[in-house]
Amino acid sequence: MALAIGILTVSDRASRGEYEDRGGPAIRDWLSAALAVEWSAVPKIVPDEPDLIEAALQTMCDESKCCLVLTTGGTGPSPRDVTPEATEAVCERMLPGFGECMRAASLKFVPTAILSRQVAGTRGQSLIINLPGKPSAVGECLDAVFAAVPYCIDLIGGDRLETDPNVCPVFRPNQRT
Ligand code: MTE
Repeated sequence: MALAIGILTVSDRASRGEYEDRGGPAIRDWLSAALAVEWSAVPKIVPDEPDLIEAALQTMCDESKCCLVLTTGGTGPSPRDVTPEATEAVCERMLPGFGECMRAASLKFVPTAILSRQVAGTRGQSLIINLPGKPSAVGECLDAVFAAVPYCIDLIGGDRLETDPNVCPVFRPNQRT
């Protein structure tokens, strides 16, 4: 069976249909190019409301059994940006290295990268990672951290992810390749 990956767009305007969701498709395109396993997207768009973000994350992890959930948007400092708080509320453990690495990598592209409060954490056998809302930021951040994602999911007992090594080599420390 194809493994499931959640793609959650967090945006007031996209959820009302006033703005085309470009972050979600950017995630889907990046994964389609990088992954070498059968996978299916579990997509959803929600407004910047903590309860709705938390509910969507819980459903993707617990019911849809997504081994990975990528969010886009709502990570900045404006009052309605609450994706990191909602993510922390549903995660059992946080993985600060993801946010640190994505911000450091993003600084090479824009000085405003430090404005993203993006976090990552685990809920059961799911890894949740926040990405900024800008479509170009999606690839810039995934390029920076994805090598560590499959092994992280191995460690929490999730599905086995494989990638095309020409697009995004993965690193599994206990496996000689
Ligand atoms: N990271 C990357 N790689 N590229 C970007 O263009 N934009 C920054 C930052 N991180 C950006 C980035 C900006 S301008 C903001 S305000 C924050 O992400 C938060 O964006 P969000 O609220 O859409 O999540």
